[in-house]
Amino acid sequence: MRLSLPFILPVLGFLSLPAHSSSLFPFEKIQLTREHIESLPDDQAKLFAFGGQFDENSAQAQETANAAARCRYTPSDGKWPSTKAWQNLAKQLSAENVLLKPTPQSVVCYPGTAENKAKCQDVTKNWSNSHVQTNDPIEVLSPVFQGLTCTPPTIFNSGNCTQGGYPTYVINTKTVLDIQLGINFARNNGLRLVVKNTGHDFTGKSAGAGALSLWTHGLRDLEFIKNYVDGSGYKGPAIKAGAGVQAFELYKFANEKGVVAVGGEGQTVGIMGGYIQGGGHSPLSSLFGMAADQVLSLEVVTPTGDFVTANATSEPDLFWALRGGGGGTFGVVTSVTIKAFKDMPVTAASWSLSSTTLGKDKFWAAVKAYMDLILSHVDAGTYSYYTLSPVGKDFSFAMQPFFAPNQTAQQVNSLLRPFFSTLTALNIPFSPKITEYKSFYPAWQAEFPLEPQGAVSGAPGSRLFPRSNFASETGRNITFNAIKQMVETGHSILGFHMAPTLARGGNVDNAVNPAWRNAVMHAIALLNWPVPSSPSSILSSWNAFSKQTLQKWRDITPGSGAYLNEADRLEPNWQQSFWGSKYARLLEIKQAVDVKDVFWAANAVGSEGWVVETVDGLPGENGKLCRVNGTVTAVGEV
Ligand SMILES: Cc1cc2nc3c(=O)[nH]c(=O)nc-3n(C[C@H](O)[C@H](O)[C@H](O)COP(=O)(O)OP(=O)(O)OC[C@H]3O[C@@H](n4cnc5c(N)ncnc54)[C@H](O)[C@@H]3O)c2cc1C
Ligand SMILES: *[C@@H]1O[C@H](CO)[C@@H](O)[C@H](O)[C@H]1NC(C)=O
Ligand SMILES: *[C@@H]1O[C@H](CO)[C@@H](O)[C@H](O)[C@H]1NC(C)=O
Ligand SMILES: *[C@@H]1O[C@H](CO)[C@@H](O)[C@H](O)[C@H]1NC(C)=O
Ligand SMILES: *[C@@H]1O[C@H](CO)[C@@H](O)[C@H](O)[C@H]1NC(C)=O
Ligand SMILES: *[C@@H]1O[C@H](CO)[C@@H](O)[C@H](O)[C@H]1NC(C)=O
Ligand SMILES: *[C@@H]1O[C@H](CO)[C@@H](O)[C@H](O)[C@H]1NC(C)=O
Repeated sequence: MRLSLPFILPVLGFLSLPAHSSSLFPFEKIQLTREHIESLPDDQAKLFAFGGQFDENSAQAQETANAAARCRYTPSDGKWPSTKAWQNLAKQLSAENVLLKPTPQSVVCYPGTAENKAKCQDVTKNWSNSHVQTNDPIEVLSPVFQGLTCTPPTIFNSGNCTQGGYPTYVINTKTVLDIQLGINFARNNGLRLVVKNTGHDFTGKSAGAGALSLWTHGLRDLEFIKNYVDGSGYKGPAIKAGAGVQAFELYKFANEKGVVAVGGEGQTVGIMGGYIQGGGHSPLSSLFGMAADQVLSLEVVTPTGDFVTANATSEPDLFWALRGGGGGTFGVVTSVTIKAFKDMPVTAASWSLSSTTLGKDKFWAAVKAYMDLILSHVDAGTYSYYTLSPVGKDFSFAMQPFFAPNQTAQQVNSLLRPFFSTLTALNIPFSPKITEYKSFYPAWQAEFPLEPQGAVSGAPGSRLFPRSNFASETGRNITFNAIKQMVETGHSILGFHMAPTLARGGNVDNAVNPAWRNAVMHAIALLNWPVPSSPSSILSSWNAFSKQTLQKWRDITPGSGAYLNEADRLEPNWQQSFWGSKYARLLEIKQAVDVKDVFWAANAVGSEGWVVETVDGLPGENGKLCRVNGTVTAVGEV
């Protein structure tokens, strides 16, 4: 039996009782049971049965036949569930109108019954505000991977508005029951299942043509546990948060409790969804490690529809895999309990330099001076985020910000003194803005502005650069030259410096890419192609970018990898790149928990057997999800 703590605490107030996360959120207590399935008429039981619930009967036979089909069924297939089956699903869900059949927002901009010029202007005006995509059941921040089939025409003219790579049905999940029903319905009917939280995924993994989508955005409960004690030894403050909680509200909540939580820099990122499951780098990573290192416990609905707790002693394999193994792969997480830490002051610095005023030689000398010092910066516990961009024939370097948690302005000035001295010696005028904040929340709010919707004509690629690249003068020169060349050949770079070493994250054993543990730089390079471009010319420049341009970064970082949450969809040898030595165990766990491949996402663990056959041949979600012909899962040496 579960006793609610607020109820017993007043009675036993004189004792300081240990609290742990085993108390579920109210939405997690509303669950689907096997008994309920058994009480349903046969035709309905078949739709909603748990994995393996009816061993010998027709539900199992149907499930097996559907699971064996070459492609997941889409609305144009004869085997797509009947209207009546969808109505049954709608009826079983926890409330009315939980099952949605949404159209893209820009449908109002294209010829058809929904066309509406005023509404189109509104959608267009708001389009770059990422709250628009995160608050919508289907829109994503990476429209290229959706197939760009319905975007505001002044931003990208799609010609037509079609559903493209967007899902057909969405369950706006309110309870664990809704998630269980959705997973069982998709599995039993051979449908493609996707999970959308915010839609931030860099490669479109929260979309999927013809899919049933589970939208976790509504699961926003938050709880502060002042004295969390878990069976594996952690004692201290913790936060339990629903899967839909975004950075802006997690940080606000933590601030109100006098603590900080390890989350991302981006305001609207879904911290407890793809972010934390994929690792999660943070402005606090050089102090505490990756976000996944902070996880104490998760609640999760598995591919069979079962609801379990994953922690150090319950479902330990799942617990290990969900901390770094990636979203959309092992089940749907409904909440996560993470460590929290005492709040702290923060100092942030920002500056920008341009070759327009400095000339190219001095400009690059200034950038090199900064790069040469990064080990001292990350070892002092800082995180930095900057852009290095070609601007016409010139270049710019904008540090926005250099973020120093737990440091005063005086400490930051002395940390950056060697850099400033070099600038002075080079006769470069500079005027950094250095601001001291009393606590984390106002610093984060002021220093990390809302980031816009992703590009309609480009793709990212990235690499984790290890400490050894910066440990010698030769290494620093080689690394700097590779960065410089990337920018000189027309690619903007988003750079991050941090050191999420295991020493800092605690001695945790999880599925985070081992390459992160030595990394001191995570660099994202951007490819842009002209508009319009034919699919074949996009594909050839994309392949050249992935296989040749980015290879130069791989060549100087042998054995390292890339961050799966901010990566190239065409990343070669992605198993090694995203997980290194962790991949073999992750694949074993995936094959054990998801026998029927209910969960699939591009370049996710165990995704080798399936591919989206897109309508235009470009990598993305606009097409059917089908088995790769004649393959037995082939995994490269990892
Ligand atoms: C503007 C911007 C800023 C960013 N800032 C950072 C940053 O500071 N640090 C960092 O590390 N990364 C950052 N990222 C990358 C971010 O980590 C990924 O985009 C991540 O996938 C976001 O997770 P989400 O749940 O919000 O997004 P979604 O796109 O909704 O989901 C991402 C993936 O996780 C799956 N998923 C989502 N929720 C669940 C769930 N509850 N259970 C199972 N699977 C789930 C989805 O199916 C999908 O495959 C940023 C991205 C953007 C676009
Ligand atoms: C656009 O933003 C305005 C305010 O910023 C808001 O009132 C309006 O509802 C938004 N429209 C859409 C379509 O999101
Ligand atoms: C609109 O879509 C239809 C059907 O896919 C296609 O035949 C037609 O060419 C498209 N029109 C434009 C303007 O792209
Ligand atoms: C894991 O969760 C279970 C179920 O809630 C709980 O009984 C157990 O104590 C937890 N284990 C740890 C290490 O906290
Ligand atoms: C922050 O600084 C204080 C005082 O300098 C120190 O005691 C504390 O350990 C630091 N916290 C972290 C997380 O490094
Ligand atoms: C590194 O590059 C600088 C020029 O930027 C050069 O002066 C120096 O000799 C180089 N050092 C090594 C070890 O290559
Ligand atoms: C698999 O084979 C079918 C026909 O047998 C073909 O239509 C399809 O394009 C193939 N898919 C892949 C990924 O090669």
